[in-house]
Amino acid sequence: MLDEAWTQLVDESGGTWPPSPSRQFPSPLDKLHELALEAPNVFSRPDYASMKHDDIKANRAWLVERLQPTDEVLTALRSLNQHQILGMAACMSTLAHMYRWGSVPTLTAAQEEKRNHLPNMILAAQMYLNGRLGIRSTGGTITTLSLCNYDRERDVIYYSMTKNFTPDIIAAELWNAKLFHEMERIAEPFYRSVVQLADDVIGRGKDSTALEEGNEAIRQAFAYFYKYLKEPTVSKAVWSRYAQGFHGWSWDGFEGVSGDQAVMVRVMDALLGIPPTSPPTHLTKGQRDFVDTLRTANIRQRAVAEGFPLATKSINDTLRMLKTWRMGHVKKACFYEDIHLPERKPMSGGKGTDADLGLEGMVARIQMRLQTRTALTR
Ligand code: HEM
Repeated sequence: MLDEAWTQLVDESGGTWPPSPSRQFPSPLDKLHELALEAPNVFSRPDYASMKHDDIKANRAWLVERLQPTDEVLTALRSLNQHQILGMAACMSTLAHMYRWGSVPTLTAAQEEKRNHLPNMILAAQMYLNGRLGIRSTGGTITTLSLCNYDRERDVIYYSMTKNFTPDIIAAELWNAKLFHEMERIAEPFYRSVVQLADDVIGRGKDSTALEEGNEAIRQAFAYFYKYLKEPTVSKAVWSRYAQGFHGWSWDGFEGVSGDQAVMVRVMDALLGIPPTSPPTHLTKGQRDFVDTLRTANIRQRAVAEGFPLATKSINDTLRMLKTWRMGHVKKACFYEDIHLPERKPMSGGKGTDADLGLEGMVARIQMRLQTRTALTR
């Protein structure tokens, strides 16, 4: 059962983990791909301080003019293989966020809009692609905007919104996705070891050391996080305004990209029986099914109940690493969010309706939420 869920997750990701998107598309999707590559030349503006709502409207009009007929787009989408679906999901999510925010960095004027309707073509394509992947949102997610948008070969963000900005801004956007991608890549043996652990403990009713290898992978993934999530790799002065805002700030009731969609952390929580942070709206079907199947298997309880010392010890080692990481992450999260951004409005952020509490209140609320997660990690 868990092995089947893992196979499905990997199939959905194009046969690899993390996912392997393709950037070769049939017409007219190739035109949308070119559009997403070209758009930052119009949308990303160093002179944003002087920009007004009319500039946002002009950018959107420029984008809409270059969209393609909806029926042709849908016909082409139906012909894609899984690698192309993943690549298009990155492209279309970028176009959706571009239309929504109308500029990079995002402006107060865009945040003040109460509702925003995506053009039919973008909405239809997003619904098709997110539907194919089982994502229950109209926006971008860690999978589409981060995992599928990082080009490991060239070490760049494929559909970058910052390519015309200064190196610190480009780096913040890069690392905002690269961290998630690379941590998943490093952590990949963890997933396979969890499948083996389930097979040993549940399937064969025997003790297991399978998780030891997975724990080593997790240790390395967290070491990567500690090594790179800091100044100057990720500059606090620019991270939220130029990288997180465009990806993460929400609309129409959906949040955008949030760390709590990180699959490895969701899987660790499921293994340990820790309640999920939020509904799995932004996970793909394969990710959601894997997490659910693992949670239902109750491996931790079974290992203790059956008196399997080796499995129990390795599960406790996973717990210790996750708890230590969460304690470190609270500090990182508060450090990076603790910056005055006039454009950060109540509607923005994953659960960031707290921007109306003022900066101190908002950071205190984030700290409280993350400390609660840390306390639940037991
Ligand atoms: C780019 C640097 C990062 C910053 C500044 C950051 C910041 C934050 C913030 C502010 C939250 C709280 C959201 C809320 O409750 O409203 C959060 C949550 C979370 N982040 Fe990050 N994050 C970063 C990178 C990562 C990475 C690389 C991971 C993946 C492993 C991650 C995993 C999580 C998880 C799992 C949560 C949900 C809370 C929990 O389960 O403990 N974050 N992050």
